[in-house]
Amino acid sequence: AAFAAHAASAQSYPTRPVTMIVPFAAGGPTDVIARIVTEHMSRTLGQQVIIENVGGAGGTVGITRASQAKPDGYTIMMGHMGTHGAAPALYPNLKYDPAKSFAPIGLAAGTPILIVTKKDFPASDLKGFVEYLKTNGAKLNEANAGVGSVSHTTCSLLQSLTQAKFTRVAYRGTGPALNDLVAGQVDFGCDQIVNLVPQIQAGTIKAIAIATPERSPSLPDVPTTKEGGLPEFQVSAWNAIFAPKDTSPEVVKALAGALDKALDDDNVKKRLHELGGTIPDKQGRTPEALQKLVESEVARWTPILKAAGAVAN
Ligand code: MLT
Repeated sequence: AAFAAHAASAQSYPTRPVTMIVPFAAGGPTDVIARIVTEHMSRTLGQQVIIENVGGAGGTVGITRASQAKPDGYTIMMGHMGTHGAAPALYPNLKYDPAKSFAPIGLAAGTPILIVTKKDFPASDLKGFVEYLKTNGAKLNEANAGVGSVSHTTCSLLQSLTQAKFTRVAYRGTGPALNDLVAGQVDFGCDQIVNLVPQIQAGTIKAIAIATPERSPSLPDVPTTKEGGLPEFQVSAWNAIFAPKDTSPEVVKALAGALDKALDDDNVKKRLHELGGTIPDKQGRTPEALQKLVESEVARWTPILKAAGAVAN
């Protein structure tokens, strides 16, 4: 009887709105991706997926809260390469294990990283930027979303490659950070492309380089770091949906199916592509593929960040 009840309840999942915790402030890249995919997922699930922004500590506050939620499918989260890849190296007392505390649902979007500066930064290409960073770093402020975020992690990589020293300013997301960059309150940052395309196209900030092997079709005039003479700075991030550990296979299947449909939808693909995001292919967006990605990313980032001594300033 219990099994039948369990199966029955899973079959009708969801019977009420689902909350997705986005562990950064509204308006940043993780929030933008979450809203694009959940708008379509709501249609497939037949219930609203409601975004709840929970900022702090590079996204680990929100992910910790989501990891402790009931595994009933009504609290899920959007994590990423920071919260589920870099965080263990940076938070010795992290209250979750990216590879054990979750039921992975699927990859939502890949996000190339760009180095961007305020409009009147005294350099416009990568060579000039690196030179200026090395000689004037002490008076420069880098904006990020806190230790463990993608913006912080990727600018830590830049710091260790250039050996430059600069001040690190943490925001509750790179949405608010971008506002200060546009206002010229901070000098530069490393951020995910989906947050930057409109501002770069509007000329309110400067794109110095994109850290992918090829230029992005959404920003054809932005040179790659390879073209700019810093080929070692190659880094892309990813954003993915997770549920708490012990979420039932039926619920995981329903959520993964809804994500899969969203990523096959022309309008969703168009919006993500316009913002420079990349859509995972069919086999790349399964729960199993995400579990493998998390394990490999934790293994990849841990030595890099320990060597870089990347800690909160
Ligand atoms: C980050 O890791 O930098 C976050 O994704 C920024 C954000 O989404 O606000």
